[in-house]
Amino acid sequence: MNEARRAVCWMRCAQVLLLGITAGDHLTVHRNAVNGTIGHAVLLPVAFTLNHQFTKYTVEWDVGDQSILYHSVRNCTLDSRGAPTWVLDDEFVVYPAHSGRVEFYKLNSSLLIYNVQANDSGIYRVTFSTTGYTTTRHIALRVEKPHDSAAGSLWKPWIFAFRTVLCFLPLTALLIIIHIWG
Ligand SMILES: *[C@@H]1O[C@H](CO)[C@@H](O)[C@H](O)[C@H]1NC(C)=O
Ligand SMILES: *[C@@H]1O[C@H](CO)[C@@H](O)[C@H](O)[C@H]1NC(C)=O
Ligand SMILES: *[C@@H]1O[C@H](CO)[C@@H](O)[C@H](O)[C@H]1NC(C)=O
Ligand SMILES: *[C@@H]1O[C@H](CO)[C@@H](O)[C@H](O)[C@H]1NC(C)=O
Repeated sequence: MNEARRAVCWMRCAQVLLLGITAGDHLTVHRNAVNGTIGHAVLLPVAFTLNHQFTKYTVEWDVGDQSILYHSVRNCTLDSRGAPTWVLDDEFVVYPAHSGRVEFYKLNSSLLIYNVQANDSGIYRVTFSTTGYTTTRHIALRVEKPHDSAAGSLWKPWIFAFRTVLCFLPLTALLIIIHIWG
């Protein structure tokens, strides 16, 4: 078991090293699944690197059959690792269903959704394309009710009363027995 885990770990390390060496056009999805809470903002974190300075590329976000946004860049500058530092001549469109509800980070293409509702749950797709390279990754978003719900706190006094009664039950029984025998 331990050895199998160690082997997997070494494979991952090797992958990271290889990717580091051959750093090219590449899209990284930091988490395949994200949990959100109704009424809160949730971040779908991604990042990418490019092979060449001054490249053009496009990023699109969708959920189900709905387009969320696209970002088309005609020119950009990169740092030494290939991560964009500045985009030039870009075109950015958010479609009406998500207009005013999302923030898009142009330099890593992560998507922040404000005030998520239960019906925002679903499989989000991010598609990244540049000349000769296109890839699509998925992130499953699951939106849940806040944990400390009103229903929970409503039950708390009752649970307390029940516990108190249970606690004094042996004492009460003892008193009754003493009364009957006495
Ligand atoms: C999301 O919540 C579910 C159920 O509460 C849990 O099983 C899962 O591990 C959580 N996922 C993440 C990414 O936190
Ligand atoms: C993407 O950029 C935003 C804004 O600079 C930052 O807050 C976020 O942590 C970045 N995410 C990743 C995965 O790099
Ligand atoms: C991209 O921008 C650089 C720096 O401003 C410029 O030298 C280059 O010609 C531009 N490339 C394209 C294809 O517009
Ligand atoms: C999703 O749920 C919210 C809040 O319940 C509602 O206002 C919105 O219209 C719903 N959106 C869709 C597409 O059904």
